[in-house]
Amino acid sequence: MDNPSDKKDKNSNDKPMDRRRFFVVAGNSAVGLVGAGCLGVTYDFLSPKVLLESPSRFRIGTVETIQPNSMAYDAEHRVFVFRDTQGYFYAISANCTHLGCTANWKAEGVPGHEEGVIACPCHGSIFSKKGDVIQGPAQRALDRFRMHLEDNKLFVDTDETVSEEEMILKV
Ligand code: FES
Repeated sequence: MDNPSDKKDKNSNDKPMDRRRFFVVAGNSAVGLVGAGCLGVTYDFLSPKVLLESPSRFRIGTVETIQPNSMAYDAEHRVFVFRDTQGYFYAISANCTHLGCTANWKAEGVPGHEEGVIACPCHGSIFSKKGDVIQGPAQRALDRFRMHLEDNKLFVDTDETVSEEEMILKV
């Protein structure tokens, strides 16, 4: 024999959602959405905003890709990498030390420096291929960067400026 209260419970589950229940469900859903949004914003706020690898360090190629007595240019970092006739490497900034224009490599050189120069198009400064000032208005040599050799790959670190003697990477 059926219990009348069971019948009533069974029927209550089949009833369409009443207004009160609808607002409870809608309210709980809204609270849940706002909570999830707050968690997302908090996670984003607490996440580190720094790059783990320094963007100043970059790969310029391998020992074989830059032949002796040649130059490779990285336009993104504005850096020349020269390989001299002995096979040694060194990296020079293309940022003119006068007002920061990008200097260009002139393989034809200038009188007295026929092996090539680095020339700034803005106000005419000229630098030797080792970065020394040949002609102003620039007063200071171009920055020289340390190079590293790892697994036959060549890297330049623009965070580390070095002297003319220290810049040479012997391979
Ligand atoms: S910025 Fe290069 S000479 Fe002035």
